[in-house]
Amino acid sequence: MSVIILAIESSCDETSCAIMCDELLLSNIVADQEVHHQYGGVIPELASRAHQQNIVPVVNNAIHHAGVERKNISAIAFTEGPGLIGSLLVGNSFSKGLSLALNIPLISVNHLQAHILAHFIEEPKPKFPFLCLTVSGGHTQIVLVKDYFKMEVIGKTLDDAAGEAFDKSAKLLGLPYPGGPMIDQFAKTGNSERFKFPEPKVDGFDFSFSGLKTSILYFLRDETRMNENFVKENLNDICASIQGRIISILLHKLEKAANDLNIKSVAIAGGVSANSFLRIQFEEYGRKNNWKTFIPKFEYCTDNAAMIAMVGHYKFIKGEFENQSVIPKARLPIETNF
Ligand code: KG4
Ligand code: ZN
Repeated sequence: MSVIILAIESSCDETSCAIMCDELLLSNIVADQEVHHQYGGVIPELASRAHQQNIVPVVNNAIHHAGVERKNISAIAFTEGPGLIGSLLVGNSFSKGLSLALNIPLISVNHLQAHILAHFIEEPKPKFPFLCLTVSGGHTQIVLVKDYFKMEVIGKTLDDAAGEAFDKSAKLLGLPYPGGPMIDQFAKTGNSERFKFPEPKVDGFDFSFSGLKTSILYFLRDETRMNENFVKENLNDICASIQGRIISILLHKLEKAANDLNIKSVAIAGGVSANSFLRIQFEEYGRKNNWKTFIPKFEYCTDNAAMIAMVGHYKFIKGEFENQSVIPKARLPIETNF
């Protein structure tokens, strides 16, 4: 009999539902929350309210697109954490209710594991062990992926995440939220060598982005003091230079980790892996180092329920189910589930 997973993602500001039949994705509906744009960042209270409004139409839409009947769904998978507690709570309560109503099992999913296992939604799928650079709005990690649920964080950011570095830099430039895709867009016609920002010296495979943020702040302050139109006149080059530095910080550490551990299968995941320059540079590093590289399709980079469904599928096969007492977790390390 087929395993049909209905998956729900609600960890931040995207409400998403996906349906997967065995390992075939049938639908993946994502609703963005426009409400945050005017505030320049995600407002947690508004995010949970928007999830409440979106969740029923998003789930109905996903079921409709998949063409499945509710009575044939095998289990409900949902994001347990990490994420915004109020946002997680909406997906958590809805999933519990649906699992009770349909009398089917509940499966909890670690959002960070899901970003990594998004590589198994479509071919080519990486072989274990592989390294994954997971770069999102909340996390920046180098993960040694030994098996579906055996993951070890070997490097992480000591302060800001890479996505935050993009978003905070964009804010300093007066660009609207979310800043990452805006910087990506402006950088396309810019010169990344024009302005030099420092690369932090951090031991091992760890990262730091707070110094970069400060240096951008002082750089912009000094330049605009001399020319108040500096940002407007040089936006493309500034964006390309900031983006270039964030990406070189990420890839230098990833290269060091892959060399030290002698691993030739390397992947990127998470929202920042949608960045066009990161995707190009990552392939370049792959060619140079003889890596087999894995880049997710755009729709599986930023938050989506397809990746939750993928993990849900593997947990269903393992028979790893949750009971109704499960609560959302703002923090949930990637290493807990094995
Ligand atoms: O994985 P994600 O959707 O949510 C979290 O789990 O945090 O990642 C969101 C982050 C944001 O910081 C956003 O600016 C960044 O991913 N991002 C990008 C791009 N698309 C999304 N950063 C740079 N370039 C992009 N094209
Ligand atoms: Zn995410």
